[in-house]
Amino acid sequence: MTTLERYSLKEFVRDMTKLVEENTEEATIVEKAEELVGELIKTDSWLPNPVYQLDEDGYTRHSLYRDPENRFEVLALGWKSGQKTPLHDHDGTWGVEGVVTGMMKVKNFVREEREKGEFVKLIPAGTVRLNEQSTGELLPPADCHILESVGEKMAVTIHVYGKQLNKFRIFQLQNDQSYKVKWVEVGYTKEY
Ligand SMILES: [Fe+2]
Repeated sequence: MTTLERYSLKEFVRDMTKLVEENTEEATIVEKAEELVGELIKTDSWLPNPVYQLDEDGYTRHSLYRDPENRFEVLALGWKSGQKTPLHDHDGTWGVEGVVTGMMKVKNFVREEREKGEFVKLIPAGTVRLNEQSTGELLPPADCHILESVGEKMAVTIHVYGKQLNKFRIFQLQNDQSYKVKWVEVGYTKEY
C-alpha cells in the first residue's frame, strides 16, 4: 500500500530543516516538530534494521541524521522491556520523542530555577505512558525525565533534539531530597 510509504526520513529531515530555517522560537519549533514526528512514526519502513538489534546492557542509540548547522539531530533508540534511562536533562535544548513500537513510561520533572553548586532541586511533574504512535515533547526548564520501556515486547523510539546531544546532566537523589548533578557524555551505537 502506498500509504505505508507516505512519509520517509528524508522527507522528515527536509521538513525539519525548513522548520528550523523559518522559526527561531523554541516553543514553536517543538510544537511543529512533534507533529512531524507523529507523521514519521506512522510507519517504520524507513528505519534501518540494526535499530531492532538490542543490547542486554542498556538501550541503544542510533544516529539517523545530524543537521550540518547543528540545529537538530534525529535518533532512534532501541529498548528491551524494562530498560530505562537515568533521570537526565537535555543540556538546555528542546526535544521531541515518538514511539514507533512498544510502550514507554515517561516520568517528568521540572528544574527549580537555580543550581546550587553540584546540587539541584527537581519537582516531580507527573508520569505519562506513551503507546505506539504517540509523541511527547520537552522544553526547558521542564526538560528532565526518566524514560522506561514498559511494554511486554521491545520498544523503538524516535528522538529529535535542538542540537547534537552528546552530553547531558544526570541527577542522583540525595537524602535531603535534592539531586546531585553529574555530567555524562553519550555516544552512538551506530551512525547512518
Ligand atoms: Fe531524554
